[in-house]
Amino acid sequence: MRRLIPLLALLLAACPSAADDDDTSPAPDDDDSAADDDDDSADDDDSADDDDSAWVPELSTEAQLRGEELYATYCTKCHGTNLHGYAADDSPSLRSPTFLATATDAFLASAITHGRPGTVMSAWGADYAGPITPAEVDDLVAFLRAWQTTETQDVHGELVQGDAAAAEALFAGNCANCHGPDGEGETGPSLNNPWFLETASDGYIRYALSQGRPWTPMDGWGELYPDFLLDHLTALIRSWATPVQDTKVPPFEPDLSQPVLHEGNPAADFSELLREDLYLPVADLIAAYSAGQALVLLDARPGSDYLAGHITGAVSVPFYRVEDAVPFLPQDDLWLVAYCGCPHALSGDLVEQLSALGFPRVAVLDEGWFGWLGEGQPTTAGPEQY
Ligand code: HEC
Ligand code: HEC
Repeated sequence: MRRLIPLLALLLAACPSAADDDDTSPAPDDDDSAADDDDDSADDDDSADDDDSAWVPELSTEAQLRGEELYATYCTKCHGTNLHGYAADDSPSLRSPTFLATATDAFLASAITHGRPGTVMSAWGADYAGPITPAEVDDLVAFLRAWQTTETQDVHGELVQGDAAAAEALFAGNCANCHGPDGEGETGPSLNNPWFLETASDGYIRYALSQGRPWTPMDGWGELYPDFLLDHLTALIRSWATPVQDTKVPPFEPDLSQPVLHEGNPAADFSELLREDLYLPVADLIAAYSAGQALVLLDARPGSDYLAGHITGAVSVPFYRVEDAVPFLPQDDLWLVAYCGCPHALSGDLVEQLSALGFPRVAVLDEGWFGWLGEGQPTTAGPEQY
């Protein structure tokens, strides 16, 4: 809920009525008003009282049905069963009308394949050590497309001319609280991500600014700001673009031959340290880790994230491949600590599966991968464990 506070403060300070009373909105994309009367409901409730937001498509094609299955396996933990997002902290909606009206198939396929490096959105593509083949990416796109309720907006030909510098103060004052000072993302998604900027057209960005994302914390600014300010903001976001690093990697098979860290040393004991019997504070992991106590660290994210960087000594056990790992994991007195980026959704899922399989001592690293990074603790990139 913390993301709502800055929004409310902003609305009160900036303009008490315009943003939440949208009936004069141009909202050119829809005639059924789903997108222009929902701001209030988005603030206190994601969906329940809005028909369109509760709507579920009937899937008809084979591709959509395969996509549905892939989505259930890989995506629901964060983006939610009905695509409204925020199942794990800050994972955006994938069905907001303005999003699907302007996100092209190519944009969606790239977001899935390459992810948003540096954020918790992984590269899922098989060419990047993720689990999803290019054909399956197309199935996922077909599935996402089935949720579109408003007409496609052809905004991509529009080249926006603006003055990036003229928008800096505006961004700092009105956007940075959610998107971070340099657009690196906070409660709102990153806007400076190379893969985002590689695939989002000027028109896509400007339309998002102007119309917002119904059913989410992102309001439309088109009523508050004159056109030239939207142009300046678009230019500022565009100015953050840097070349993408498109490095494909060979298929990655995790090496589970030596899962135990500090094997032979006295075992770590976390039994008295867990919050809610499940979450291990990063400070306690650091203490056991630096004391050389024996334990097993499981990286629950897709292989692409493991290769980009993992806790030194951790083994890769993506949450969707637990069966492959089970024969290698010790079931004795050693603790198994899982982590992911989000910071609990994928590690929590992995730990739940391990508990169900009879592993008695399992925990989730409370602050996750980014907590470990933030403490400046040892990490390793590439397939090597150490
Ligand atoms: C209250 C927090 C908040 C504020 C303030 C806010 N945003 Fe957002 N913004 C979000 C969220 C959350 C999303 C993702 C919504 C979703 O689809 O679930 C978003 C989405 C976007 C997107 C689309 C990104 C994409 O990947 O499609 C753009 C562009 C954007 N915001 C720009 C801005 C700019 C510029 C401002 C300031 C004028 C701003 N936002 C203010 C929270 C905020
Ligand atoms: C661990 C949580 C997590 C999982 C699992 C996950 N995502 Fe995401 N996804 C995110 C977050 C967080 C972002 C925004 C990242 C950022 O800051 O740019 C995102 C962004 C996206 C975007 C871009 C949205 C936009 O507005 O620009 C798409 C499309 C997407 N995810 C699709 C998927 C699909 C399909 C899957 C399953 C294959 C998936 N995601 C799995 C967390 C997740």
